[in-house]
Amino acid sequence: MSGKDIIILGIESSCDDTSAAVIKNGEMLSNIVAGQKVHEKFGGVVPELASRAHQQNIIPTVDAAIKEAGITKKEIDGIAFTRGPGLLGSLIVGTSFAKSFALALNIPLIEVNHMQGHILAHFIKNKEEPCLRDAVRQGYPKFPFICMTVSGGHTQIVLVKDYFEMEIIGETIDDAAGEAFDKAAKILGLPYPGGPLIDKYAKEGNPKKFLFPISNIKNFDFSFSGLKTSILYFLQKEMAKDKTFIEKNLNDICASYQDTIIRSLFKKLIKATREFKINDVAIAGGVSANSLLRSELVRIGKEESWNTFIPKFEYCTDNAGMIAIGGYYKFLKGEFVGQDVVADARLKF
Ligand code: KG4
Ligand code: ZN
Repeated sequence: MSGKDIIILGIESSCDDTSAAVIKNGEMLSNIVAGQKVHEKFGGVVPELASRAHQQNIIPTVDAAIKEAGITKKEIDGIAFTRGPGLLGSLIVGTSFAKSFALALNIPLIEVNHMQGHILAHFIKNKEEPCLRDAVRQGYPKFPFICMTVSGGHTQIVLVKDYFEMEIIGETIDDAAGEAFDKAAKILGLPYPGGPLIDKYAKEGNPKKFLFPISNIKNFDFSFSGLKTSILYFLQKEMAKDKTFIEKNLNDICASYQDTIIRSLFKKLIKATREFKINDVAIAGGVSANSLLRSELVRIGKEESWNTFIPKFEYCTDNAGMIAIGGYYKFLKGEFVGQDVVADARLKF
């Protein structure tokens, strides 16, 4: 690569993971994630506990990311941070830290939308890949592509026309897909976050054993709240007859429930790609770590003649690498923000 190297520090603190990452010319040097075990027993993220834990974790996490990258803080060219959407108290910790660090180092500050970050994670380069400024090439999705972003807070089908030119063409009208996983897990007596556990038990279960309803919402939108209610009533009914029902059938319940969520997602994804005539199809967000979602994307992708893009596991759930890569592309465009920037829990794009 000719010219000066560009080193971006990314900071992510929108929910319950404190993360810092360093990328150089779009290539990942470090991506540290400090999770928060404190929420496990509550069956969901407790916002006030999350912001306190971010305050404790942020300095050691940034320090670890800089050390692992093998750079000094003087070499950093810009600081990218998640401005939103997310939990306000959590976002404020990362935003305030990024602002003061940028001020102290006298370098540009770059805001990144968390949901755009999930999508842009597809453009992170890894050490084994050649260094390329422009990611539009074989190996990365080509614009325009469709990305289904499925996380604990959002479920969206996004038409991605360029790095920061994105249009939401469908989204959930109530619960997110990750929330549907986590809430069912809570009903089943599993700790938070339950998505990975349902995925694990489902591997040993029969997905056709129990039948749950798929919602019928118009266009490319989703609804998952009815599904959550249906598993609740189903389990209440079965447990009244046999107190050991969950214990005896956990794998089959998980497999059947997971299958319903994944089928609901693909129903709309297929519809959207056909209508918009798009062949490059990506997934992003925490639920894209789900093994059935990943294998179905490959299987259905072959049937539909899609070029499919699945993020590496470490870039599915919340991480600062995805914020740093967003920061890198904004840095190239000179899109910076001032010290008057504030966190926005409902930030749109
Ligand atoms: O993107 P993310 O880390 O945080 C948000 O921005 O929400 O997504 C977290 C969500 C949680 O709901 C978690 O249960 C879900 O992703 N998740 C999974 C799996 N891994 C994480 N859901 C299903 N199967 C998985 N393997
Ligand atoms: Zn996320």
